[in-house]
Amino acid sequence: MNHHLKAIKISDKVYWVGAIDWVMRDFHGYHTRRGSTYNAFLVIGEKPILIDTVKAQFKDELLTRISSVMDPKRIKYIISNHTEMDHSGCLPELIDITRPEKVFASINGTDALNEHFKLSQEITPVKDGETLNLAGLKFTFLEARMLHWPDSMFSYLNDEKIMFSSDAFGMHLASSERFDDELDQSVLEYEAAKYYANIILLYSPIVLKALERVAKLGIELKMIAPDHGPIWRRNIKRVLELYKKWAEQKPAKKAVVVYDTMWNSTGKMARAVSDGLASAGISVKVMKLREDHRSDVVAELLDAGAVLIGSPTLNNNIFPTVADLLVYLKGLRPKNKIGAVFGSYGWSGESVRHLKEKLEEMKIPVVAEIQSKYVPAQEMLDQCFALGAQVAERLKEVCK
Ligand code: FEO
Repeated sequence: MNHHLKAIKISDKVYWVGAIDWVMRDFHGYHTRRGSTYNAFLVIGEKPILIDTVKAQFKDELLTRISSVMDPKRIKYIISNHTEMDHSGCLPELIDITRPEKVFASINGTDALNEHFKLSQEITPVKDGETLNLAGLKFTFLEARMLHWPDSMFSYLNDEKIMFSSDAFGMHLASSERFDDELDQSVLEYEAAKYYANIILLYSPIVLKALERVAKLGIELKMIAPDHGPIWRRNIKRVLELYKKWAEQKPAKKAVVVYDTMWNSTGKMARAVSDGLASAGISVKVMKLREDHRSDVVAELLDAGAVLIGSPTLNNNIFPTVADLLVYLKGLRPKNKIGAVFGSYGWSGESVRHLKEKLEEMKIPVVAEIQSKYVPAQEMLDQCFALGAQVAERLKEVCK
């Protein structure tokens, strides 16, 4: 008998049978410095049910955990909440091994799974709001389009009051603990916010509707079990409040000064700008793009009301790392922020104009700009400080 990789009981009928990815540091461009988990769940009843699978390379871990409770061949139903391959990667093989009576997915999920794989079994689509009695276990399925893909859905196990929420409410955090209350709360909230900022932010209007819908349904939630990171059981109210807050994107008195630099001229400007902001009572984060990853920058921007971007002019353009951030940020559609731009140059000096255009394309109004020829002298640094103070005053007005 394998004493490792056991299933972990999370409620009367439900076991966690997922995989812990301690070493993954890149999730399609998101720096996951604490790794992640791919959560799959086994619901024990007359006809056992598997909810989601794991990344393909973790198939043995999934099967070993299931086998610690029962023979995987006894699984009679599989529910696929989301087609992305970190959750469906083992689905073709699990279908082949278990030969289940039915495999369920949303209507979009049914198409998406068939477009991903050549499955040996038909998928049974479930409708939004549909409730099925699966050999005595009552599941209600809720479409959660774009949280995270068009196929995403939530599955609610009525008997245990557990919402299996797929990517929503998840985080990239590998841990030996399975529940929110077993982990450091500040780490938990930081990683949940970082996940929201990098994965969910652009779908914020949909999040607000989904929260309203769940509230209206009056569903009791004993647990929210996402497909990444810990299961929420103690802090359910808190994570729902945080999702509402993040989705609303109300500006706060916080600014992020983000830049890159060649000979530290733009770096000096960034320091002076940030001192100006801080002197006016604004909380500031200063981030240099060759040291700070784009995914950490957008995490800091989640609750910031101002973004101040600095770039030197390099070959008539902005610095490549700054361009990378701007492309990434534009895709995430941040709202309710004000902007400012700064940078040094030697002769042509296009960077500030380009930065301004890019922010305006994102509908971030640029309230101040400044550029320095070559190395900023004290007078220029004083002007940068004043620019920071000026942005601070504008931000205070916006936050009123
Ligand atoms: Fe964790 Fe959208 O997959």
